[in-house]
Amino acid sequence: MRFDVVTIFPAMFAPVFDQGVVGRAIEKGLIELHAHDLRDHTHDRHRQVDDMPFGGGPGMVLKPEPVIEAVESIRPHNPGPVILMEPWGERLDQRLVESLAIEPGLIIVCGRYEGIDDRVRTALNAREVSIGDYVLSGGEIPAMVLVDAVARLVPGVVGDPESLAQDSFSIEPSGWPQFTRPAEYRGMSVPEVLLSGDHARIRQWRRQQASQRHGLHTKELKQT
Ligand code: ADE
Repeated sequence: MRFDVVTIFPAMFAPVFDQGVVGRAIEKGLIELHAHDLRDHTHDRHRQVDDMPFGGGPGMVLKPEPVIEAVESIRPHNPGPVILMEPWGERLDQRLVESLAIEPGLIIVCGRYEGIDDRVRTALNAREVSIGDYVLSGGEIPAMVLVDAVARLVPGVVGDPESLAQDSFSIEPSGWPQFTRPAEYRGMSVPEVLLSGDHARIRQWRRQQASQRHGLHTKELKQT
């Protein structure tokens, strides 16, 4: 699967993705990640990518021409949908990640400033995606989140397929409390059931703990 990211900070991506699970997947040729400098698609001396919003208001808006030309230059290599990372977009969850993972590729545009000229969305039939209801200073970190979440669903990227199965059977990936050695640490013991070797009891305990944990988080959400 191929990811093309359009950004004014292309250098941010290599340090994150040349390590870990995604780094290994790139080395193995399972995925490709290309970060493109938006400024390479400007035609003025100052390589200006933003301008003042029509109608007034604070901040700057990403100009349409560089973004559209950048995507047009990528298009012959990547047939996938265009995604604009924006805080008001459709909320990223595991279901959306799964639907994006079956695409042949993704072209991801990182927003900055007060947004991207809306004609980009129209012209490229782009989808706007948010990683949560908070505002970051740009779309680069959200783009990394999206790439990581989608990349690990590409076959072969995650070595142990069982860990994938575990994530996806609970769409809310809440999981259960995990413990490793030592069995006792500073007076805190690992729950006895996990040391029992009784797999049926362990499964039951984990299921119950996961639903309890999930209930707790949704209750917290409802209160706010
Ligand atoms: N850009 C700024 N904040 C964002 C968010 N929460 N999700 C996606 N893109 C963003």
